[in-house]
Amino acid sequence: MGISGQSAGIERISWSTGHLFFDLEDLAQMRGQEAEKYTQGIGQKQMSFCLPSEDVVTMACEACYDLLAGDDHGEIRNSIRLLIFATESSVDQSKAAGMWVHRLLGLPSSCRVVEMKQACYSTTAAVRLATSHVEMFPEERALVIGSDEAIYSLETAAEPTQGAGAVALLISSKANVALIDPIAGLHSEESNDFWRPNRHKTPIVDGKLSTRCYLNSMKQAIADYHSRSGPSINSFAGFCFHTPFPKMAHKALHQLLKQLPEEKEKPLKEQLKNSLTYCEKIGNCYSASLWIAFASTLNHGELIDGDRIGLFSYGSGSVGEFLSVSLQPGFSQYLHRGSSEKRIMQRKPLSKEEYTALHRFKTSDGEPDLSQEPVLEEMNQQPFPSRRFYFIGHEGGARLYEERDARV
Ligand code: HMG
Repeated sequence: MGISGQSAGIERISWSTGHLFFDLEDLAQMRGQEAEKYTQGIGQKQMSFCLPSEDVVTMACEACYDLLAGDDHGEIRNSIRLLIFATESSVDQSKAAGMWVHRLLGLPSSCRVVEMKQACYSTTAAVRLATSHVEMFPEERALVIGSDEAIYSLETAAEPTQGAGAVALLISSKANVALIDPIAGLHSEESNDFWRPNRHKTPIVDGKLSTRCYLNSMKQAIADYHSRSGPSINSFAGFCFHTPFPKMAHKALHQLLKQLPEEKEKPLKEQLKNSLTYCEKIGNCYSASLWIAFASTLNHGELIDGDRIGLFSYGSGSVGEFLSVSLQPGFSQYLHRGSSEKRIMQRKPLSKEEYTALHRFKTSDGEPDLSQEPVLEEMNQQPFPSRRFYFIGHEGGARLYEERDARV
């Protein structure tokens, strides 16, 4: 049981990413920058991209497929009564991306499906709603998905902070991975640090303002957390942050350390590195980013049962939430580490020409014609051993997806 008797939390967690990546050293060369500016100054080594036949729906399905592995008799599937899909790069203005996921995963029709948006923050709000649902109906489960493609305009300061990824969290009263403490520190304040008007494919961002808004939001959210008598952050074994780029997480920890005894600095910096192992290879995944950092911490940190981890979730515009979770006995059995990491290993590198063509495709108006981009057509035909879910085109403007057998 948690600190005030609550018993809902994370039963399983898994994540996925796009099947392509672009190396930041190549981008630096293209933009006439020193590679170190990106790899050290920003802390990013590679960025993931989706194939033309991939998007937030297929990445979400891949993550959920791992999450549901072993559920051969449908015991878990049939208990899912709530599916929340958090995203800011959805594929339709009306239909929730979760509807395709619901069909492709074979979830029961007696399930509530909805999409949520508040920039990168919405997965955390979804986790809160899912937790409340499960506390009300302890026999039921909720599936929370955060999935995004972060694509900025070419030749902007934000270009080295693109990325793609999805996270899936199964929330239930069998909190095998972590219990979620009910106390949260909250901060909302309208700001114009980052936004994407309806007609835009890429966001407008005031990068410097956004980092200030992020840090201010964290300060205010932690003050609120303290004022509600949350567990003392002195006792936390580690912290994970929304990670638009790794240096941002370093800046966040630096600010947080000012409130902590000096001897905490070394171990917390070590834990932070563990949280960035995936982020520095896949880039910003907006709504999925914090929770992939959390998965990375669980997979790489030397953590033990009962350890408490602090998480800071930020979404431009802006909302911040500071929350904490406590790890449960045997948590490491429920992380799906192998399959998620295999996805990083299987990605194919983009050449500079392919990167530019793919970017043009992803940001063009209307539905671009793939046959005009032979390099992308070819990319789409490449085999990826464990891939299952495909976006296969449109019919009457409606998007079509299918599952195919994986090769391994
Ligand atoms: P910039 O202005 O080109 O970079 O873009 P810079 O000149 O500030 O340099 C970056 C760092 O590299 C600096 O370090 C430099 O000193 C260093 P810092 O002072 O920050 O510690 N540097 C070097 N280091 C080593 N060798 C070198 C070298 N040269 C410079 N040769 C910026 C940076 C982050 C502004 C840009 O990438 C950007 O606009 N990114 C997008 C916005 C963003 O990610 N903001 C983060 C907070 S908002 C957020 O997290 C929400 C978000 O995820 C969206 C959502 O909620 O949906 C974005």
